Amino acid sequence: MTKTTAPGKIILFGEHAVVYGQPALAVPVNQVYAEAEVLDIPRAGIWINAPDIRLHEELSRLAPENPLASVISAVYAEIETRKVSSETFDKKYPAEQKPSATYRNEEKPFGSKTGIEIRITSTIPVASGLGSGAAVSVAIIRALSAHLAHPLDDKKVNEIAYEVEKIHHGTPSGIDNTVVTFGKPIFFIKEQPIEVLNVVEPFTIIIGDTGIPAPTKESVNDVRKLWEQNSSKMNTLFATAGSIAKTARQAIEGGYPERLGPLMNENQRILTEMGVSSPELDRLTEASLNVGASGAKLSGGGRGGNMIALSTKENAPTVVEALLEVGAKKVIVTEVQ
Ligand code: PMV
Repeated sequence: MTKTTAPGKIILFGEHAVVYGQPALAVPVNQVYAEAEVLDIPRAGIWINAPDIRLHEELSRLAPENPLASVISAVYAEIETRKVSSETFDKKYPAEQKPSATYRNEEKPFGSKTGIEIRITSTIPVASGLGSGAAVSVAIIRALSAHLAHPLDDKKVNEIAYEVEKIHHGTPSGIDNTVVTFGKPIFFIKEQPIEVLNVVEPFTIIIGDTGIPAPTKESVNDVRKLWEQNSSKMNTLFATAGSIAKTARQAIEGGYPERLGPLMNENQRILTEMGVSSPELDRLTEASLNVGASGAKLSGGGRGGNMIALSTKENAPTVVEALLEVGAKKVIVTEVQ
């Protein structure tokens, strides 16, 4: 049996603008996570068991575009490629001529008579900006590849998770799969090597869930429409969000997290102009600011899902209470470090 987990995430700064090449900051949220467990079973086939969505089905009976089927198939395809290249390697270096005796792990037979079951559970709310899809993908890729004796490294895990995100979300920046794979605070620019943030002074973020599911694909598409209509205005908004993200990085790496509050408020103003806030998000951000949070904004795709607020550790319970009072469905307090 092989079991792995992958955390949720929040975007601190730069969502949407990141799709257009601007930098963004994201951090993992370990209080919520996806878990994948792979076990050998006596029954033949590759069985997917996802009780949260009441799914118990054999892989070949799912549509190829099913999100779970697509990630599982991508792992098998990657392992097949590795097997083929190591067979070529075997031919090239027969017997003891091999340059290294430890170049390959012992393989578990797949395609043998016994089957496997992949059990997937998650405590991350879906379509809420907390990276649920990416976390499920990453947990499956790690557990399945390890179970098949071909554990993949973070770079490859991230690559596969990104390919799967592309199937389902159209034009993702890749920030979700990257922060979830590496499990560290990151400064992220699309298609650039990742940079891990050096958090000098830990700080407290409170995450409030509007309880309204909002598919990221839709808000990303709507932002694109606005960009097509008025690219110069939108490019200016994106560039401002990008420079906020850069300033925020300096505050985090310089040990001045209290400077993040006004930057969050400024980023929220820009996201509102992009048309991705909502009355519920506004109600929660306002409630947190009214009781002393120094900054608040939506996080992720927007329209619903989650917002975040910056608070001192001491004032966190007051912010939590205020959010619940105005209708937050769930509140998480997380320490960024
Ligand atoms: O998946 P979400 O809702 O956390 O949003 C991802 C952030 C966006 O910038 C809106 C989209 C993207 O691909 O970066």
